[in-house]
Amino acid sequence: MEVTHTFAATRDLYEGRIGLLPTMGYFHEGHLSLMDLLRRECDTMVVSNFVNPTQFDQSADLDSYPRDIDRDSALAEEHGVDIHFVPEVPEIYPPGSSTEVTVGKVALGMEGKHRPSHFVGVATVVAKLFAGLRPDIAVFGKKDAQQIAVLKGMVTDLRFPVEIVSGPLVREPDGLALSSRNVRLGAEERERALAISRGLFQAAMQIDAGERDGDRLEATVSRSISRLDADYVELVAAETMEPIAALDRPAVLAVAAYVGEVRLIDNLSIEWVDGTPAPDRGLILEEPSRLSAK
Ligand code: PAF
Repeated sequence: MEVTHTFAATRDLYEGRIGLLPTMGYFHEGHLSLMDLLRRECDTMVVSNFVNPTQFDQSADLDSYPRDIDRDSALAEEHGVDIHFVPEVPEIYPPGSSTEVTVGKVALGMEGKHRPSHFVGVATVVAKLFAGLRPDIAVFGKKDAQQIAVLKGMVTDLRFPVEIVSGPLVREPDGLALSSRNVRLGAEERERALAISRGLFQAAMQIDAGERDGDRLEATVSRSISRLDADYVELVAAETMEPIAALDRPAVLAVAAYVGEVRLIDNLSIEWVDGTPAPDRGLILEEPSRLSAK
């Protein structure tokens, strides 16, 4: 595996079909499962590792974002990554750079509403990665469901010749969705955070039992997280991310909530199988993840 710092040095190493996994590092089993998925789909696998300052709306969140490039490189190598691309800020944002990607309707609600500049930052950095690295395929995790919808829209609108593939949302054995931010949760906070996945799993059981009413599904999750500081609980259409009153098409039941200082997001993606909603609870690990060992 090679570690590179510039777009040009990265492209010099290319052979065949190029796969890209964009990340902000501090790898966990969610990232590793996306690497395993991408390994099967490309000849040269590039994993970018850049904590993108423009997508953070609070400097404290940016400053406390966990980073460990040596640890990440070792894990990337174990999972068959060919190139670990670790750019410095000026490679992504050359001095004086001022061009941004604005995002449309799909970015207005949920994360876009509570973190107004977030998706402009995400779309801009991913556009730069696509332009500089020119991948044939790129993978993103389903935990960031709205991010995937925003990026699919960008790829269609700006005609990027890249296939976007989504990989599973990965959970700890007790249900907590994996996030690099989990390492910032104290023991009591981590216990309280389980209310999020518990609420989503209860909603999934209701859906399996025939519930289709949006308010009732949202209320189930809201009740479960009543001791957390919720930003939103919303049932939205999977394609447009617009709120829907009833479960009558592929959808996402999405949550964002603060546990202490740590903001967590999670969701239940509800696919449509043979005319029936099928909640996807994600990939539940059998053993605690490497984040739990922290
Ligand atoms: O999902 C993430 O880790 C980030 O939003 C991404 C896509 C790497 C852009 O910085």
